[in-house]
Amino acid sequence: MTQVHDYQTIAVDSITPHIGAEVHGVDLSKPLSNEQFSEIYQAWLDWKVLVFRDQHIDREAHKAFGRKFGTLHVHPMQHSYGGDPEILRVKTTKDSAYTAGNGWHTDVTCDEIPPLGSMLYVTETPECGGGDTLFADMYLAYDLLSDKMKDMLDGLVAVHDGAMPYLSGYKVAPPDGSQYPRNEHPVVTTHPETGKKILYVNSGFTHHIKDLASWESRMLLDGLFKHIAETQRLYCRVNWEPNTLTFWDNRCTQHHAVWDYWPHSRYGERVSIVGAQRPAA
Ligand code: SIN
Repeated sequence: MTQVHDYQTIAVDSITPHIGAEVHGVDLSKPLSNEQFSEIYQAWLDWKVLVFRDQHIDREAHKAFGRKFGTLHVHPMQHSYGGDPEILRVKTTKDSAYTAGNGWHTDVTCDEIPPLGSMLYVTETPECGGGDTLFADMYLAYDLLSDKMKDMLDGLVAVHDGAMPYLSGYKVAPPDGSQYPRNEHPVVTTHPETGKKILYVNSGFTHHIKDLASWESRMLLDGLFKHIAETQRLYCRVNWEPNTLTFWDNRCTQHHAVWDYWPHSRYGERVSIVGAQRPAA
């Protein structure tokens, strides 16, 4: 159970006992007071996924909220979207070949320094319902492993490859003959602010674990991905309404967009914030 702080300037209603909370009493179209900002920051660390409903913001306000947490990220696939490089459009229609994020992943772990957080602002939801996003608590995913498994994972390093989702999955070539980022991160990381351990592999980007035979790496990753995909107590589920902004801590969560609404449409825009340091053990 998450430690519950006493907030003075916001109201926080948890979605589950350990991940996800709805935040009330905040209008993101207006400047935040210092107290509000520091309480939102604490709530984000506590609950990992914050949901702000009924927000009426334009792109500048969305980006300004993101910039309060750091520099905005430019997505490696941005060349295929066009438009504002700091805004990632998440658009699914009846003609879409895929919907972004329709599988368990942490955003852009192929980067040397992956985003520390992402803010998705959804303005159009499917008229038939659906289009929820699942979020998984990767502190708990680590804690639930046996001591023997924790010992085995300790010190292992994995390779994360952007070509997996972007080229093999979405079929979008990188710009100008370049290659998508490919970087190494520890299999178990430590959150730079909370000091807690995190299981840091995801089926979206993690290609293999170094220094193992390929069958050993495959077996270990498949087992860990199964643990993440089948342990329901890791999750909270965000049901979007138009004008909902959800802000997740990308260092200690994974998420999965559920594409259950074809042929209906859904639209949102995401900003991500560049991490302050490489994920470390
Ligand atoms: C993503 O950021 O992976 C997309 C999530 C969503 O559309 O719910």
